[in-house]
Amino acid sequence: MTDRAARAIAECRLIATMTEETGRITRRFLTEPMRAVHAHLRVRMEALGMVVRVDAAGNLRGLWQPPGVGPQRLVLGSHIDTVPDAGAFDGVLGVTIALEWVTIVKQLPHPFAVEVIAFSEEEGVRYGLPYLGSRAVAGQFDPALLTLKDSEGISVDAALRGFGLDPAAIGDAALDPHAVCFVEVHIEQGPILEGENLSVAAVTSIVGQTRLTLTFTGQANHAGTTPMHLRRDALAAAAEWISNVEALAQRTESLAATVGRLSVTPNVGNVVPGIAQVSLDVRHARDAVRIQAVEELLGKAEAIAARRGLSLARAGQLEQPAVSMDEGLTSLFTAAMEAAGFPAKTMHSGAGHDAIVMAGRLPTAMLFLRSPGGISHHPDETARPEDVEASLRVAHEFLHRLSLQIR
Ligand code: HGY
Ligand code: MN
Ligand code: MN
Repeated sequence: MTDRAARAIAECRLIATMTEETGRITRRFLTEPMRAVHAHLRVRMEALGMVVRVDAAGNLRGLWQPPGVGPQRLVLGSHIDTVPDAGAFDGVLGVTIALEWVTIVKQLPHPFAVEVIAFSEEEGVRYGLPYLGSRAVAGQFDPALLTLKDSEGISVDAALRGFGLDPAAIGDAALDPHAVCFVEVHIEQGPILEGENLSVAAVTSIVGQTRLTLTFTGQANHAGTTPMHLRRDALAAAAEWISNVEALAQRTESLAATVGRLSVTPNVGNVVPGIAQVSLDVRHARDAVRIQAVEELLGKAEAIAARRGLSLARAGQLEQPAVSMDEGLTSLFTAAMEAAGFPAKTMHSGAGHDAIVMAGRLPTAMLFLRSPGGISHHPDETARPEDVEASLRVAHEFLHRLSLQIR
């Protein structure tokens, strides 16, 4: 194990202690622990000779551009917010590895400028909408988003101000015009690389995602006195529908469909549930398959509600088409993998990433590292130092090739 790989992993483990909840890793957009992560990464970045700032969307940004280098720049980054009870490596490892990339670039015969971005919000946990940080960098931050409210009624605008930022200055987050490409290094978060005993893969595309919420509304009533045939039980309806979600995904090749959140009202044992609100997350590499699946599931929900005498409401959170990575950069990665002695494995990503948003602005590529146990969004998520080192050897080869293009 090399020092640099150990360092990248140790940093993730340290940053994991900067959490909203003692004993587990939870770090939502612009919460206090994110301030501690900024302070820690700022020290690391400044030690590398980078100029550091926090943009108006809360992204931490380090720029290495010494005199005589630039202005064209490579942009690297990933997110530092997490899901609740997360692992230590989703997002964060992409930032700590990016700092190791800076060290590699500094040693190139023809170094170029590098900006590292620790995105403030990718998961969409606090405000139900993902990619707030990268949307601002990509110039896609709709000011209406400032009015979104979290579970405590705090708006995005208030959260930014509370973090010492000026929502009116969100434009300052925009990508520098000299940015030539964006690269995100990330754990695979699934079982494929482990199944093939591979350290790294180049990502060809990121699946499309639909995220929405359905609300089944029936009639709360007494659990003891309400005959079964007179009930309009919202939870029973939701449960019937959820089994349809799983069945459709199981019979549709490569479709992922998940009901991850369920809230019941009044949610007490002796009352027939009057309201059941469920989330739906549907993903597929081909948009037509995903859209067809969502339509089928919405039709099912309507039929179940109608048969049971319930009403159904729907709220959309995300409609994200599948996004292809830049072919030229991905080929540079596969050439670099072979030069570094690794199989030129390519795959699509079942997880969303800030790279989705950045790909709309500039040529974008991703490099995956193996997820031991194939587990993520869970405290058992981990990364192996040997795979981090493998990714850095690929980085050497990739950056050498890139430096021939960035003059
Ligand atoms: O949910 C996702 O795909 C990512 O982890 N935000
Ligand atoms: Mn994630
Ligand atoms: Mn992630």
